[in-house]
Amino acid sequence: KIVILDFGSQYTQLIARRIRELQVYSEVWPCHMKGQEYNLNSPEVKGIILSGSPYSVTSEEAPTLPGEVLQSGKPVLGICYGMQLLVKSLGGKVVRAAQREYGRALLTILEKKGLFEGMGGETICWMSHGDSVVALPPGFVKIAKTEDCEFAAIRSEDGKIWGIQFHPEVSHTPLGKEMLANFVFFICGCNPEWTPESILKQQINYIRNEVKQERVVCALSGGVDSVTAAVLTYRAIGDQLSCIFVNNGLLRKGEAEEVLKSTQKLLGKERVIYVDAGERFISRLRGVLDPEEKRRIIGKAFIEVFEEEAAKLGNITYLLQGTLYPDVIESTSVWGPSARIKTHHNVGGLPERMQLKVLEPLRFLFKDEVRTLAQQLGIPEKIVWRQPFPGPGLAVRIVGEVTPERLEILREMDYIIFQELSKSPVFRKIWQSFGVLVPVRSVGIMGDERTYEYVGVLRAVLSEDGMTADWARLSYDTLDVIARRVVNEVKGIGRMVYDITSKPPATIEWE
Ligand code: XMP
Repeated sequence: KIVILDFGSQYTQLIARRIRELQVYSEVWPCHMKGQEYNLNSPEVKGIILSGSPYSVTSEEAPTLPGEVLQSGKPVLGICYGMQLLVKSLGGKVVRAAQREYGRALLTILEKKGLFEGMGGETICWMSHGDSVVALPPGFVKIAKTEDCEFAAIRSEDGKIWGIQFHPEVSHTPLGKEMLANFVFFICGCNPEWTPESILKQQINYIRNEVKQERVVCALSGGVDSVTAAVLTYRAIGDQLSCIFVNNGLLRKGEAEEVLKSTQKLLGKERVIYVDAGERFISRLRGVLDPEEKRRIIGKAFIEVFEEEAAKLGNITYLLQGTLYPDVIESTSVWGPSARIKTHHNVGGLPERMQLKVLEPLRFLFKDEVRTLAQQLGIPEKIVWRQPFPGPGLAVRIVGEVTPERLEILREMDYIIFQELSKSPVFRKIWQSFGVLVPVRSVGIMGDERTYEYVGVLRAVLSEDGMTADWARLSYDTLDVIARRVVNEVKGIGRMVYDITSKPPATIEWE
C-alpha cells in the first residue's frame, strides 16, 4: 500500500482517492503518526506521499517531518508543503514568497523519466503555495520548472525522494494522474491489485475474522452504506446477522415499502425485521418547533425502538455500522473533527448503551468504492445511487411543527420533484434534491378562485461530501415543470420557490 501522511491539506483525501483509482490501496495517516498501527517500516508500505498543508514550513508551529519517513528507506513523494518539508529537513532552503502563486501554470519538464516518464516537454499544472524552495539540498536535482517557480519538481540523485510544488491530484493538472501512476507503479513497484473483486474478498475475510461465531445486528436505513454493509456481512457470516428496519414515519413517499422489499430480496425475508413505529415518533413531535429538539426526540425514540427489538433477538455481540473512511480519517486527524464541523450523529452512544462492539466493514472505503462494491454485490442501482437522506427525515424538511397533514403534503411535493429530476441527465450529478415545506400561507389565484396555501421549496445541491455545497443550476424548463406540477397536483401548496443559497452560508437542510 501507499501511505499518505496528512499535513492538513484540503486535498489529502483526494490524493488517496486518485491512488485507489489506479487500483493501488492507499491509507491516510495523521502526520504525527502516534499509535502502533502507524509503522512505515512494515513491508506492506511500498511508498510514502507527503501531503500539502495550510501551514508555512517557515513558521514555528508547522508540523515537522517524522524521522521514520527517511529512515524507512521507502520511496517518498512530497507534494507542495510535503516537498518543502523534505527540502528544509535535508538542508535546502525554503522562503516565504512575496506573493502567493495560485492557479494554472505552464510546467516545463526537464527530465522525461521517473515521475515524468512518457510525458512531453510542456504541460499545465495547478499551483497553490505561499512558500518557495530557493536552494536544493545536497544531492538533489531540478526536473521541472515554471515561469514563476524555479523548482517546480525535484528528485534525489538516487531516485528515491521526489518533490513537486504543484498538485497532481486535482483535475486542473491534466497529467497529474499519470504522474501519480508513475510514482506508484515505476518508483514504488506497486501492482494494480485493489480491484472490486479483491475489495470484496478482503472485506469478507475481515468480517469473518472479527466476528467468528458471534451474532451481529444491523440498523438498516435503506441508504447505500447500511445496505452494502448488511449484504456484505450476510455474505460473510450468513445466519449470524439480523437486521432491523425502523420506519419512523418520516420517510419519503413509498420509501419504506421499497426499502423493505429490496432488502428482503437481498437478505432473505426472515432476516429483516420491520418495525412500523411511525405513531410513536409523530405523536412525540406534536407541538415541537425547535429543530434540535426534533432531532433529540427522534434520536431517542429510535434508540428505544431499536433496543426493544434487539432485546427480542437475544445474544448479540456486534452492532453493524456503515461508517466510511472519510469519517475515520477525520476522527484520527491532528486537526480533529473540529476542523470540519460535524454535528449529525443520529444514534451516537447506541453501542455503549447496549454494550455492543462495533463492526465497521466499510471503514476503509470511500463512497465511490462502496458504490462499486454495492454493484458487485448485486444491490439494485436505485439503492446504489440513492441520495443521502438525514436520519430525522422529513421532520427537518418541514419548518416548525410536524403534523400528519404537513407530512402528506411534503411527500406529494417531494415525489414530483423526484420524478421530474430523476428523468434528467444531470440527476446523478446532484448530491441531494428534495422538497421543503414552509408552512406560511401565500395568496394565489386558480381559475376564478383566490387561494391561500403553503409555500413549497425546491432544494437541489451539488456537493462532494455535504460539508460544502453549491445550488444546482437546473434548467428553466425543469424548474418550470416542477413548479407547475406541484402547484397543480399537490393540494396545500400554492407557490413554489427555488432555493439558490449555497453552503456556506446556508446549510443543505432547512433545519
Ligand atoms: P446540512 O443541512 O447540515 O447537512 O448542510 C449536511 C448533510 O447532512 C445531512 N443531515 C443529517 N443527516 N442526521 C443525519 O443523518 C441529521 O440530523 C442531519 N441533518 C442534516 C444532510 O441531509 C446533508 O446531507
